[in-house]
Amino acid sequence: MSKNIILITGGAGFIGSSLIKNIIKKKYNYKIISLDNYSTGTKRNHIQSKNVKYIKGDNKNIDNLLSKYKNDIKVIFHFGEFSRIFQSFKNYKKCFEYNIHHSSKVIEFAKDNKIKIIYSATSSNLGNKGKDENLSPYAWSKSKNIELIKNYNRWFGLKYELVYFYNVYGPGQILNSPMSAVIGIFEEQYKKGKPLTVVKPGTQKRDFTHIDDIVRGCLLAWKNGKQKEYMLGTKKNHSILEIAKMFKSKIKFIPSRPGERFGSTIPNNNAKRILGYEAKQNIKTYISTFIKNN
Ligand SMILES: NC(=O)c1ccc[n+]([C@@H]2O[C@H](COP(=O)([O-])OP(=O)(O)OC[C@H]3O[C@@H](n4cnc5c(N)ncnc54)[C@H](O)[C@@H]3O)[C@@H](O)[C@H]2O)c1
Repeated sequence: MSKNIILITGGAGFIGSSLIKNIIKKKYNYKIISLDNYSTGTKRNHIQSKNVKYIKGDNKNIDNLLSKYKNDIKVIFHFGEFSRIFQSFKNYKKCFEYNIHHSSKVIEFAKDNKIKIIYSATSSNLGNKGKDENLSPYAWSKSKNIELIKNYNRWFGLKYELVYFYNVYGPGQILNSPMSAVIGIFEEQYKKGKPLTVVKPGTQKRDFTHIDDIVRGCLLAWKNGKQKEYMLGTKKNHSILEIAKMFKSKIKFIPSRPGERFGSTIPNNNAKRILGYEAKQNIKTYISTFIKNN
């Protein structure tokens, strides 16, 4: 029987659920399984379709939870991790438990069952010639997974693609939660008429990427990837202060935070060269549309 299952860890989260929605829309001939422990994910992100099955559980139990499906899995999109920089200082034990311990089981499962793994890497560890990987428990843990996946490829032939995400925003992003990211935070503050809180100094720059571009890049990596690293950013950086000003609202500075990095970098052109990927959406248009609608 041909392998007809796509496994998405973190399928009830922001990026995972958007990927599922997109795959269903495209009517690929695949069933989808989401494995999620609902630590940040929510049932509100479930896509109603007979082709999607949601399994509740920790990635560490992947072997047991998916034993009856393992021979039919074509690819794993591994998105189910602890996924915020600042919050990883307070919750570093959870960050390591999920991103090191649980993820090692997912990587092992992929290796044992000869399944390609597509890993959600992060731009947060790329700056300063890679030294930024030491800026936070989050960035460090993600870097170790990248190393492990590459080494499993060298040692055991694990097949992989590494997709790097850059400050993803858009429909489905986490709102009203300690795990919200900056665009989601600004949107909520704007709607409540509160000043937008800019972390000092405000000059720190980021590349903001729309969720639709990210999902398209992930699918391209799966279809056309050559076991490489793909930076799915827009190649445009904006400071946090610039972004806040785009909302044309009041601004309040708040103290600087540990783990802050000051730039964002795209060290290779594989996304364009190998995948033919270019981000299509820009944050300025997104924010002006948001303002018009709110
Ligand atoms: N959002 C971004 O800007 C961004 C940037 C770079 C990289 N990433 C990476 O992309 C991935 C998805 O991010 P997101 O923004 O959708 O985050 P998210 O928190 O919305 O989604 C993560 C999902 O994984 C689940 N999960 C977490 N740990 C798990 C575990 N141990 N076992 C099972 N399920 C688990 C959560 O419940 C959640 O549904 C993460 O790996 C993150 O590090 C995100």
